[in-house]
Amino acid sequence: MKRMLSGIKPTGRVTLGNYIGAIKPFVSYQDEYEMFIFIANLHSMTIYQEPKELRQNTRDLIALYIAAGLDPDKVTLFLQSDVYEHAQLGWYLGCMVSMGELSRMTQYKDKASKLGKDESIGAGIFNYPSLMNADILLYDPDYVPVGEDQKQHVELCRDIAERFNKRYSETFKIPEPLVSKVGGRIMDLQNPTKKMSKSEETNKGTIYILDDINVSKKKIKSAVTDSDSHIHYDPINKPGISNLLEIYSIISNKSIEDIEKQYDGCGYGVFKTDLAEVVGAELERIQARYKEITTGSYLDDVLAAGAAKARPVARKKLAKVERKIGITIKKR
Ligand code: AMP
Ligand code: TRP
Repeated sequence: MKRMLSGIKPTGRVTLGNYIGAIKPFVSYQDEYEMFIFIANLHSMTIYQEPKELRQNTRDLIALYIAAGLDPDKVTLFLQSDVYEHAQLGWYLGCMVSMGELSRMTQYKDKASKLGKDESIGAGIFNYPSLMNADILLYDPDYVPVGEDQKQHVELCRDIAERFNKRYSETFKIPEPLVSKVGGRIMDLQNPTKKMSKSEETNKGTIYILDDINVSKKKIKSAVTDSDSHIHYDPINKPGISNLLEIYSIISNKSIEDIEKQYDGCGYGVFKTDLAEVVGAELERIQARYKEITTGSYLDDVLAAGAAKARPVARKKLAKVERKIGITIKKR
């Protein structure tokens, strides 16, 4: 079985964009791949997190992965902070990347360019890719599924892994980023040229997985679409309806072409009403399961078991690195 690894930060409430782009795909991968999925809580610290919210968001995210159908018996699901090797390898790899490389990362550039006059930027966000490189390289994954915005980080990871292998001899597998063509970028329902995000001021264009279902349905019904009424996938000229088609396709597991055929000649109103039902039913299912698994100690047990599975893999790789680079002084 090929190995797959990905991480997600526990920042903010989980949106439909996160669900479609980063949670649901894993459910379909779990039978085909050996999977490592972790909550990137160390990465979340690059921006101030209110401690109480961080705790809640972390639990919610784990619960939502499981509620979405991820099976903790098949997948290694754990907290990044439970496996100390991530931070340790992150340090070594941070010493192997240049300031120039890090400053070319668009995530960092975006954050830096949005700073207010009296704001400063934490060093963590700059060196963020080093920790991410460690997250990946500790586990030798074949594939790293990420959203479009993270592809550049995985490419940097490949460069650093190659650099390490060249300098010290073959140590890390070179991972492939895996960006899905559909659902990699779910757009804001009110402004379909912008990515759906949790920081949207109005919230009208963002659906939250744990929100009231009727509120979510309403948001879908009032999604912005173009003035013609032909249900056709064309992200450039018809971004609104194309976004809704993607959402429909992913949630219902039907192809976009089949949905186009099904709604041929119907207006946007009928389509949106049906989509609101499709999304509503999915949210209802997830929320019911979420309620079941968040009572009792189930989540803590899952995380303990996940960390126990991840640690030996990470330890072995870190030990190898430390021998190669001369940190380990014991003679074998
Ligand atoms: P973020 O919420 O930006 O921390 O992203 C967490 C994960 O969800 C990343 O893998 C993102 O690529 C993915 N993601 C976030 N927003 C969207 C979106 N609108 N469409 C698809 N994937 C998304
Ligand atoms: N940086 C990713 C994000 O913002 C989260 C992440 C951290 C990650 N470490 C990773 C993703 C390792 C894939 C592999 O969403």
